[in-house]
Amino acid sequence: TTIYVLNGPNLGRLGTREPEVYGSETLEDIAAELCASVPADVELVVRQSDDEAELIRWIHEAVDRRAPVVLNPAAFTHYSYGLRDAAAQLTSAGVPLIEVHLSNPHTREAFRHTSVISGVATGVIAGFGSGSYRLAIEHLLRSRG
Ligand code: DQA
Repeated sequence: TTIYVLNGPNLGRLGTREPEVYGSETLEDIAAELCASVPADVELVVRQSDDEAELIRWIHEAVDRRAPVVLNPAAFTHYSYGLRDAAAQLTSAGVPLIEVHLSNPHTREAFRHTSVISGVATGVIAGFGSGSYRLAIEHLLRSRG
């Protein structure tokens, strides 16, 4: 089993980026934790980009491989119809896509209360720090057939 864990803009700055909101772990720390937590036959492909086009290409790659995706779209959550349309291809093919957020966007600025991704996501997990990723992967592992 391969699971893509895709991360949007500014998430490469975790560790030093607004630690009061996002915690002090880097994305590398989170990736290492996640990789250590999955069985040996599960491959996690953890990637981050600040580039919308690159994220869209990676989702296409997951569609072609029929691989589930854990996606933190970061700020693209709130306005990227391109990313939404890519995500829709995955879920319309019956492959799960779980939207995750470290913070709970609903407790924050009004512009963060809208997600253009949620409507095509299988589910959403937000507000548990890196635990949001862990819970998403746990779900995918539990439901794999
Ligand atoms: C985020 C929440 C978004 O609103 C924000 O733009 C991010 C990170 C989160 O993980 O809490 O960059 O997706």
